[in-house]
Amino acid sequence: MKVNINAEDQILVIFGASGDLTYRKLIPAVFDLHMQGLLPDNFAVLGVSRSEMSDEDFRTRMSQGIKEFALFKEADDKTLHEFIQCLYYISINTKESNDYGILSNKLVELDKAHNTKGNYIFYLSVPPSLYKMIPGFLSEQGLTKNGQSFRRLIVEKPFGSDLESARDLNKFLLDNFEEDQIYRIDHYLGKETVQNVLVTRFANSIYEPLWNRNFIHHVEITAAENIGVGSRGGYYEDSGALRDMLQNHLLQLVALIAMEPPTVINATSIRNEKLKIFQSLRPLKENELFKNVIRGQYGAANVRGEYQKGYREEQGVDPNSRTETFVALKLFIDNWRWGGVPFYLRTGKRLPTRVTEIVIHFKPTPHQLFIENKEFCTDGNILVIRIQPDEGILLKTGMKIPGSGYNVKNINMDFHYKDLQETYVPSAYERLLLDCMIGDATLYARGDSVEEAWEFVQPILDFWKNNSDAPLYQYPCGTWGPDVADTLIEEKHLTWRYPCKNLADDGIYCEL
Ligand code: BG6
Repeated sequence: MKVNINAEDQILVIFGASGDLTYRKLIPAVFDLHMQGLLPDNFAVLGVSRSEMSDEDFRTRMSQGIKEFALFKEADDKTLHEFIQCLYYISINTKESNDYGILSNKLVELDKAHNTKGNYIFYLSVPPSLYKMIPGFLSEQGLTKNGQSFRRLIVEKPFGSDLESARDLNKFLLDNFEEDQIYRIDHYLGKETVQNVLVTRFANSIYEPLWNRNFIHHVEITAAENIGVGSRGGYYEDSGALRDMLQNHLLQLVALIAMEPPTVINATSIRNEKLKIFQSLRPLKENELFKNVIRGQYGAANVRGEYQKGYREEQGVDPNSRTETFVALKLFIDNWRWGGVPFYLRTGKRLPTRVTEIVIHFKPTPHQLFIENKEFCTDGNILVIRIQPDEGILLKTGMKIPGSGYNVKNINMDFHYKDLQETYVPSAYERLLLDCMIGDATLYARGDSVEEAWEFVQPILDFWKNNSDAPLYQYPCGTWGPDVADTLIEEKHLTWRYPCKNLADDGIYCEL
């Protein structure tokens, strides 16, 4: 099957090619694109890293990654063998300017062999300390300017570690590339269900008239993980949940939920609307930070018979660490649509289950006729947009129980993506790589909005840094974070939704 997606012939250059991301995500995603006939006719991948490896070693290793992680992992050996012939590898010291001559020569050689016409994507799958160095050296080699050929740069997260470093990185990159050449990855935007937020809102006429402060009481966004930090303790110590998940993934979800309809579906229009949301986030004042931002850290516990280490016992973690593995906060968007509607965000590791979802809580009816009903929750309808797992959408609505009187009960109207049996759901990296190949930056974060998101988060970082006594609550592994997070929601009768593995279930007691 060959679909016309207009990707020009090109070379994908991956820095950090011996790393985990290349093995588990990037090359499997490229292979999945190949299997669907979505790669350009003339295409090659050049892996670049410090480790010594021949093309053959690289191909063998990537074949293993494909067999383990590609969605088309069952492909036959012949197909796989044919595909890996387009993979090449060079070993250079990426911190050494002179070594970039080797890269430049190799690209010329590959262009000749594959007729790729000097079009290159440079993918930085390397530690953030190299995010300036590598583009700087590419620039010295004259490899960063668009001309007859295109040059694009993909930058992995984290994009900066605070407002100042994000500004500095943006400035540096913009000295060497144009904004439309820079693709800042937020892999949440590549998730099919995240993109479905826009379709749910703007392809249906029933939601949008209700999508505002007149009908919505509050919005809840949860990104829970049941894993701990595993072997990433070293990285996580300097990051924490706020930088690792909230500044990027969760705020991106807020923007998609809250933005105005774009005039057209393209990168400029959508990203302009998202930017306005980031600009409208009400800055958190110092006196609110105690109350409206809760941080926690997981402590050891036995979870379903298995001992789970506390964060401070994890490899690479300071035994006295004050890094947060959980953060919950309340924010407001100061604009006409959302004035006064609280948005509650929470994310954490070692929570009871892995789930990401957005919950829209509609206001209750103005006059409650069925209030006597014990089974009927009168708090208002809720719409759950489930990002993962059991991807889908669920509306809780009141329904009459057959029989005499007016007994009402909450029922679920739910759609699960898995019911679309024939539909292939691409991985986030597959979608994002393809978009970059065709020059579509819609699902990538623009520099101005990344800075705005940092601007919102910076007072929290400063507050924690300058107030060593700012509370850090411990929560046992396998729980929903510190109890105190419940107090963010001021109305006593309301709580967070406690989601389960299955979209339609909730409550503390359910299958996790
Ligand atoms: C990454 C974070 O960006 O997102 C990880 O660095 C986190 O700490 C991951 O585990 C979660 O992504 P997903 O797609 O599994 O929800």
